[in-house]
Amino acid sequence: MDLDTLQQQLDEAASQAAAAAQAARTVEELRSIESRFLGKTGPVADAMAAIRSVPPEQRGAVGQLANRAKAGMSSSFQARHEELKRAASAGEQAKAALFDPTLPGPVVPRGSVHPVTAVQWEVEDIMARMGFVVVSGPEMESDYYNFEALNIPAMHPAREMQDTFHLENGLVLRTHTSNCQVRAMERFGAPLRVIGPGRCFRYETVDASHDNTFFQLEGLLIDRDISIANLIAVMKGLLQEVFSREVKVRLRPGYFPFVEPGFELDMSCAICGGAGCQTCKRTGWIEILPCGMVHPNVLRFGKIDPEEFTGFAFGLGLTRLAMMKFGVADIRLLNSGDIRALTPPERLGGPVVANCTATR
Ligand code: PHE
Repeated sequence: MDLDTLQQQLDEAASQAAAAAQAARTVEELRSIESRFLGKTGPVADAMAAIRSVPPEQRGAVGQLANRAKAGMSSSFQARHEELKRAASAGEQAKAALFDPTLPGPVVPRGSVHPVTAVQWEVEDIMARMGFVVVSGPEMESDYYNFEALNIPAMHPAREMQDTFHLENGLVLRTHTSNCQVRAMERFGAPLRVIGPGRCFRYETVDASHDNTFFQLEGLLIDRDISIANLIAVMKGLLQEVFSREVKVRLRPGYFPFVEPGFELDMSCAICGGAGCQTCKRTGWIEILPCGMVHPNVLRFGKIDPEEFTGFAFGLGLTRLAMMKFGVADIRLLNSGDIRALTPPERLGGPVVANCTATR
């Protein structure tokens, strides 16, 4: 065996091993290169195998060459292994350093509230300053509180104005928030100042200003010597605060069995400025505040003496109010689940702007 040739071959293999080790990008890759050079079919193993076939006096020299080559390659692999390990852990650390749990999420948009909720909160605030307490009534209501106790007996034609969903359990989906009137009288007696915001339902043909599900805010004030003048003052004060400006209103007679006299309080349409549009059915006015003086029969249902107490009630259309305040031309948008209909956070409690982003 020519020892010089063997040495050359092994040197060659060692420098290939060193280059391959340098080129390895991962520890796994390095391991497979290592087994290619130092494994059973590699150049070192070949040299070791040759020992048996060379004359005895050469065996020591061949063994030495093989061992030296093996040591050289091993140290190349070892060095590269260290490098790769260090790089990997530096990468981990760099990644860890990037994560700062105290930073706000950069891609998560800020939350907001529904325009109806925004208006509800605002009205609750205004009314609270006038001494009203917020109450709630059930959405699933008995015929008694929704109709009967409001002076609307069975078979009364007024029931037709408020057709609704009759449930199998005998209850109805409330057609208005007025169901909380007699409930509040029973619970608190007189004098009384409550508002009751909430969801209502009607069997409606849906269009730009009617939906089968909508929100109202009931108001009820009962005390001694309450007159229509008090009613108008509170209504105007409320609308003025909501719109942060003088609001044009008109009062016309309106029929509701639970008030006498009863009114429809309309406001000048904020979508078209009173010129007439689809939302106000081209009249320039929006029915927003049906109201009236509480009917003596309703006071009696609530165990309040109509000789001693009088009061007024109103049923503010919260959904319509939100439409007017935020310039939403179509009521259907509000129950559509379209998040573009949500109130931009900067608009909460801000000034009135018609034709805002929620218009379509
Ligand atoms: N509940 C009536 C409706 O929904 C509105 C209303 C409330 C009228 C209070 C007068 C007094 O149509």
